[in-house]
Amino acid sequence: MSFLVLENIKKSFGQTQVVKDFDMSIEKGEFVSFLGPSGCGKTTVLRMIAGFETPSGGRISINGKDQSRLKTSQRNIGMVFQAYALFPNMNVFDNVAFGLKVAGKPKAEIEARVKEMLSLIRLDHLADRYPYQLSGGQQQRVALARALAPKPQVLLLDEPLSALDAKIRVSLREEIRQIQSQLGITTVFVTHDQEEALSISDRIVVMNAGRADQIGTPSEIYNHPATRFVASFVGTLNMIEATVADPAANTVNVGDNVVRLRESVGALRAGDKLSIALRPEAGSLSENAKGDTSLTGKVVSSHFLGSVIRTKIDVGGNRISFDMFNAPDAVIPQAGETVTLRFNASDFLIVRD
Ligand SMILES: Nc1ncnc2c1ncn2[C@@H]1O[C@H](COP(=O)(O)OP(=O)(O)OP(=O)(O)O)[C@@H](O)[C@H]1O
Ligand SMILES: [Mg+2]
Repeated sequence: MSFLVLENIKKSFGQTQVVKDFDMSIEKGEFVSFLGPSGCGKTTVLRMIAGFETPSGGRISINGKDQSRLKTSQRNIGMVFQAYALFPNMNVFDNVAFGLKVAGKPKAEIEARVKEMLSLIRLDHLADRYPYQLSGGQQQRVALARALAPKPQVLLLDEPLSALDAKIRVSLREEIRQIQSQLGITTVFVTHDQEEALSISDRIVVMNAGRADQIGTPSEIYNHPATRFVASFVGTLNMIEATVADPAANTVNVGDNVVRLRESVGALRAGDKLSIALRPEAGSLSENAKGDTSLTGKVVSSHFLGSVIRTKIDVGGNRISFDMFNAPDAVIPQAGETVTLRFNASDFLIVRD
C-alpha cells in the first residue's frame, strides 16, 4: 500500500468546488510535484493533507492511517511556505528548535538535532542570526530545517522557491532534492514552474481546474501528454491545423505537404480538420537528417538565443517554431528561405481535449 493516499478528495468553498475527485497514491520516499496554473487548487490540496482544511469529501491516509480525525499537530507533517514564514523575533537556532520545544524534547536532544539540521542546510555558522539578517535563500533553507527538525513523516513544500531570483532558485531546488533523497522523506512540492517540476520530481501531477489531468514521470508527462492542457502547459508546443487527405491511409495535408500519421484518424473523413502537435525541438533542417516525415515551408524569422537558434517556419499558414542547438558551424536560416523540417511521424503528439 502506498504511503500517502488521497482518495476521491473534494473541496468546496461555498458553492464553488475548487478540488474535484482528486486521486493520488504516493510511495514512501517519493518526491511528487503538483504542477498547475494559479488557482487550480494546489495549495488547497496541500492544506487538506496538512489538516488546515477539511475535505468536503474523500479520504486521506498516511502509512495506512486515516487522517480525517487528526488535527494538524497530530499528523506529524513538515511544511514550508512560499513567503518566508520564520519567526522574526527568534534567531536561526530557535526557529529550527521551535517544533522540538513545542514537543517537549529534552534540551540536549534539541541542541543535537538543531546542529544536525543546520549542518544539513550548511548554515551552522549563522545560528545566532535573525531572519532579517539572512538572504531569501538562506531564510528558505532555515524554513526547510525547521520543517524537518521534528522528523516529520511527510514534507509539504508550497512554492518555496517562487520569491527567489532565478539563479538561487535553481541551486536551491537541487539542494532540496538532494536533502530529500538523503533523508528519504516522502515529499509533495507545489509549483507552477514546469521546468522546476520536470527537473526534480519522481512524478508530477498536472492539475487543471481542481483535477489531476495527468500523473506521471517527467518524461511521460512531457513526451506523452494525456490532454491538450498538459501538452500546452508543460513545455511549448506547435499546434498544427491539418486536413484529412485519405482516412484509410491516415494521411493528412499540412499546407502542400502530405503527412502519414502513426495513429488512426478515427472516424474522420477526407477534408475534415484535425489538430496535431509538434515540439519545437523535434526534427532537423539538415538535408542529411533522417526521418520518415517532412514539412516544407518558408522561414518567417530566425533568432540566435545563445544555446539555441529559434526559427519560425510558415507551413500552409501554420507558424511552426523550431529550435536547434547552437554549434560553431551552425547555419542560421534566413527569412524568406524555403526549408524542409525532417522528423519522424512518431514525433507528432496526438492530443485530446
Ligand atoms: N478559504 C477560501 N475561501 C474561498 N475560496 C478559496 C479559499 N481558498 C482558496 N480558495 C479558492 O480556491 C481556488 C484554488 O485556490 P488555491 O490556493 O488552492 O490555488 P493554487 O493552485 O494554490 O494557486 P496559486 O498558484 O495562485 O497559489 C481559487 O479559486 C481560490 O480563490
Ligand atoms: Mg498556491
